[in-house]
Amino acid sequence: MSGKKKAKIVGTGSAVPDRILTNQDLEQMVETSDEWIVSRSGIRERRITDDQTATSDLAALAAQRALKEAKISSEELDLIIVATATPDMIFPSTSCLVQDLIGAKNAAPMDIGAACSGFIYALSVANAFISSGQYHTILVIGAETLTKFTDYQDRKTCVLFGDAAGAVVLRPTEKDQGVLETYLGGNGRLWHLLHMPAGGTRMPASHETVDKRLHFLKMAGNEVFKAAVRSMGDAALKILHQTGLTGKDVSLMIPHQANIRIIKATAKRVKLPMDKVYVNIDRFGNTSAATIPLALDEARRKGQLKPGDILLLVAFGGGFTWGSVVIRW
Ligand code: ACO
Repeated sequence: MSGKKKAKIVGTGSAVPDRILTNQDLEQMVETSDEWIVSRSGIRERRITDDQTATSDLAALAAQRALKEAKISSEELDLIIVATATPDMIFPSTSCLVQDLIGAKNAAPMDIGAACSGFIYALSVANAFISSGQYHTILVIGAETLTKFTDYQDRKTCVLFGDAAGAVVLRPTEKDQGVLETYLGGNGRLWHLLHMPAGGTRMPASHETVDKRLHFLKMAGNEVFKAAVRSMGDAALKILHQTGLTGKDVSLMIPHQANIRIIKATAKRVKLPMDKVYVNIDRFGNTSAATIPLALDEARRKGQLKPGDILLLVAFGGGFTWGSVVIRW
């Protein structure tokens, strides 16, 4: 990477809905308990959008906050990348809707779909565009309203998900700062373990697909769990190796927040103490592509990120997809 420009995060922002759904609320809806949910996943509550709010609304709010913090106007943006598995509609892309909402008339809009790894994929693509010199000011957003596709009759999935968006603004730097390395991977042979069966071209919407509840997310939780533990650990170690670093060099790991047990297993693989791992799954649950930029924004606002800090971002999601990014703050 030496000699090439690096992508530096110059602003972060996030947005979550006001409405809180607690484990106690879920106890009234399905056969579950606060004790089961906390001990198996680490989640205590999550945020839920109302009927009027779609993914682009949360995305635009997070974007406006990131732009404000970066002191950059939306018209200065060259490119908007939205990572989402829960778009407002099949087309146009959610990034087009965000472009309109924030008035970024000079930006090219594109979406990336890599489920929970989406933000890592989008950050990696943005970094490549900045390194190549093709674009200068890029907005990367991870935004999801997974609760709209969550089956509140299925206790195996409905306790896990929440809605949120997080955004970062990137600009080039000549300094040894910003995105140092990125790593992406996937295994499409296991797509069926986490997917939404209907609503696409394989199984278009019909009365039957609605009656059979096929427009909701389906997950083989335990198999996904095992794959996530393996792949998140591998992705974290691989990128540290690529960057010539070890766990000792990491100031803060921001992992995808799917399950506290997966987060702890990943920290153990990297030999990182939990006080160097950012955790907010207890308050927001799994918000898919939004977990990492939401956590990054919280960490920045709390003053947990200092210049020179090494950040390790690592994610795993449906597809399967996985990836990691090392940033010098
Ligand atoms: N309340 C009470 N009992 C429950 C609940 C619930 N909400 N859900 C499941 N159970 C029961 C099951 O029915 C099962 O009972 P049985 O043994 O009688 O059949 C038992 O609890 C154990 O179920 P498992 O699914 O084996 O439980 P596990 O320890 O695997 O935890 C969980 C489930 C939390 C879903 C875990 O598997 C997980 O976190 N999986 C990975 C999620 C993930 O990482 N997703 C990837 C990203 S998401 C994305 O890309 C959109």
